[in-house]
Amino acid sequence: MEVIIQRDAGAAANLVAQIIARELRASPNLVLGLATGRTMEAVYGRLVHLHREEGLDFSLCRTFNLDEYVGLPADAPQSYRHYMRQHLFDHVNIDRRNTHLPNGMAGDLEAECARYERQIAKAGGIDLQLLGIGQDGHIGFNEPLSALRSRTRVKALAPATVAQNAPLFPDPSRAPRRAITMGVGTILESRRCLLLATGREKADIIAKAVEGPITAMISATSLQLHPRCTVVVDEEAASQLQGADYYRWIFANEPEWEGFR
Ligand code: F6R
Repeated sequence: MEVIIQRDAGAAANLVAQIIARELRASPNLVLGLATGRTMEAVYGRLVHLHREEGLDFSLCRTFNLDEYVGLPADAPQSYRHYMRQHLFDHVNIDRRNTHLPNGMAGDLEAECARYERQIAKAGGIDLQLLGIGQDGHIGFNEPLSALRSRTRVKALAPATVAQNAPLFPDPSRAPRRAITMGVGTILESRRCLLLATGREKADIIAKAVEGPITAMISATSLQLHPRCTVVVDEEAASQLQGADYYRWIFANEPEWEGFR
């Protein structure tokens, strides 16, 4: 795992977008795993900018989102399909047929989860998986105690997650309580993971995820097992990391990051 500390949330989102852009330029038919949430909005904003200003090409790119709410139609404004259209898909030259999210309205949810796993496998697996982190340490919607080898499945959302997302719904008391999510095992199979966390409210969980013991109680700790995982944080989210100076030293000296410093 590598940890990169940037001065603020904007610089952190910009770096993540630049890393994605570099991978996409090197492999135009990249299989990109996508996340939603407030943190990612700035990343998608920058990718749209790179498309418009520098011609970043999404025409051959294929995407798989981590998760989708159960029981919410794809055109509902709070659905993750709608979020992706609003923040990325409608503003870049991606072929809609190459964009995939689990169908939370499927009649047979278990079959839908198995179908999603098959689709990822058929695409050759995920090259680069973008991740956010919940305050309870979830990645995707792998809430505490998710098995470290779990696959795509329906998960009940933790009360804290429901509370975090409820304000986005017209009637917060009716916010969905279940989602289909890629499993921790599914995420760990991606060839590269890229996690972004910003803001002081993520400082405690980032310290646990990066420096704490691996535990199913905090799904993000599983990323310590991944052979190629980059965690990008701003100063606020980095404020409880014990090894911050060491991580800065690595970033300053590692040739891979030459163009990004
Ligand atoms: C959503 C997802 C979640 C979010 C996490 C952080 O697709 O994967 O794990 O990334 O809940 O959300 P924000 O950025 O809103 O704090």
